[in-house]
Amino acid sequence: MFQQALHSLRRATAQAVVGGALVIGTLEVTTHFPSQGRSSAFYHSLADDVIVPAMRATLNPELAHKVALRMAVLAPTHRPSAKEQKLNVAVTLWDNVNFSNPIGLAAGYDKDGTAIAQLLKLGFGFCEIGSVCLRPQPGNPSPRMFRLVEDEGIINRYGFNSLGADAVEEYLQEFRKTQHPQDPNSVQWWDKIYNFLWPGSQTLVVSGLLGVNLGKNKTSETPLEDYQKLIHQLGPYADYLVINVSSPNTPGLRDLQSISSLEGLVAGCQEACQKLEHVKPLLVKLSPDLTDDELEEIGALLMRLKIDGIILTNTTTSRPPGLVSSYKTETGGLSGKPLKNRSTECIRLLYQITKGQIPIIGVGGVQTGHDAYEKLKAGASLVQVYSGMIYEGPGMVSKIRDELAELMIQNGQRNLQEEVVGMDHEHLHWERQRKLLFKRNEETTTFVIDQEDKENQGKQDTDEETSTTAQPHRLLSNGE
Ligand SMILES: Cc1cc2nc3c(=O)[nH]c(=O)nc-3n(C[C@H](O)[C@H](O)[C@H](O)COP(=O)(O)O)c2cc1C
Repeated sequence: MFQQALHSLRRATAQAVVGGALVIGTLEVTTHFPSQGRSSAFYHSLADDVIVPAMRATLNPELAHKVALRMAVLAPTHRPSAKEQKLNVAVTLWDNVNFSNPIGLAAGYDKDGTAIAQLLKLGFGFCEIGSVCLRPQPGNPSPRMFRLVEDEGIINRYGFNSLGADAVEEYLQEFRKTQHPQDPNSVQWWDKIYNFLWPGSQTLVVSGLLGVNLGKNKTSETPLEDYQKLIHQLGPYADYLVINVSSPNTPGLRDLQSISSLEGLVAGCQEACQKLEHVKPLLVKLSPDLTDDELEEIGALLMRLKIDGIILTNTTTSRPPGLVSSYKTETGGLSGKPLKNRSTECIRLLYQITKGQIPIIGVGGVQTGHDAYEKLKAGASLVQVYSGMIYEGPGMVSKIRDELAELMIQNGQRNLQEEVVGMDHEHLHWERQRKLLFKRNEETTTFVIDQEDKENQGKQDTDEETSTTAQPHRLLSNGE
């Protein structure tokens, strides 16, 4: 009797263990299948069509956001679509900083850098954390985030809640430690099988660049000092740094955009960047509430200061006509769909003013590949998203990338950086194309000359004919 009971218990335990392992194994494997895999498409739908709407319906916006950050670890891993793999969607800025694709996560989503690797796996080419303040501060009292569902917008007045630079530094150390090196020799055999079965799935290895967005503490009277200290402490972990002078929820912060303040601030921050062991690109994030005249003045100043990039735009304090949600009267910065057109206008204007010479990161109301395409054509080299994720879910990144690839193919474009960025500015666009072509000619020519020089050296200048054939190449490389 006892023997029989023990036997049944053993069998039941074994069945539970095997069954459990099968269920967990299936979930684990299919969750991490590439997004075009059937199962992964299933998980995208599960996340975007069931879990995200359920969270929106049951949790307040701030809590839903916290849960989403925690759950990012379960989100489906992106793999580039077959269409995208036929294109070159990489963007290279600032002496070879290479973004594998132009879609990034905007500041504010992961303020303290607690989930960078998980978020990058959604398919982002880069993730910008922050705004980080030097000292920890709680931000404004709750509620401080509101969903304008009917308008597909968000109003927030967080006021820079931040764990502070010391805590964020620890998270960044952790991220850099766990980040898989992109060296192909270090790819594991199972990743190689994965790549063989689904070419291009190297993105399963956590790659992607990191931006660190910096803000000043609410009570700080010395903003430049704050930014300089932050650059010194967090700069070594970043691929690029951003000085945020445009959040509407920290009293006095936007005043730093006035020409008289901005010049000293940017120059001081550039100095701090120069002191880093590896100098990092420095960008400025601006407000959409600046007038066009102010934007022109600031653009000219930033050109003069040789800033590395401009992020356009932060949230707006304006309330465009046509908003219907009852939350529209809440104090704070508005983002999402109602911001889309103004942010694209700002990009277009700044691209014109700077003649396309300063990289722009475009952000505001991007939810689809078409929205991203519009911003790229207006002059953005990269595009970021935030509010759209709240309505669309984590699968939005894959969708945007797939739609963008589709649009490029429809328009006969193969290289995003060369053929899409700034395309609306016909004159500047062709001028840039001409320069690129010239640069490429120059590179080929230099290569040919190097080869010929080596061969000629061997002949010790005895063969006159060879040395004269090199001449036309040299002329070409001089642009004659
Ligand atoms: C809840 C929330 C918090 C944000 N926090 C920051 C922040 O700390 N620093 C910053 O530079 N931008 C912040 N932003 C602005 C976004 O980075 C982005 O510029 C803006 O939301 C427009 O993009 P979107 O329409 O895709 O949301 C925040 C936006 C939201 C919605």
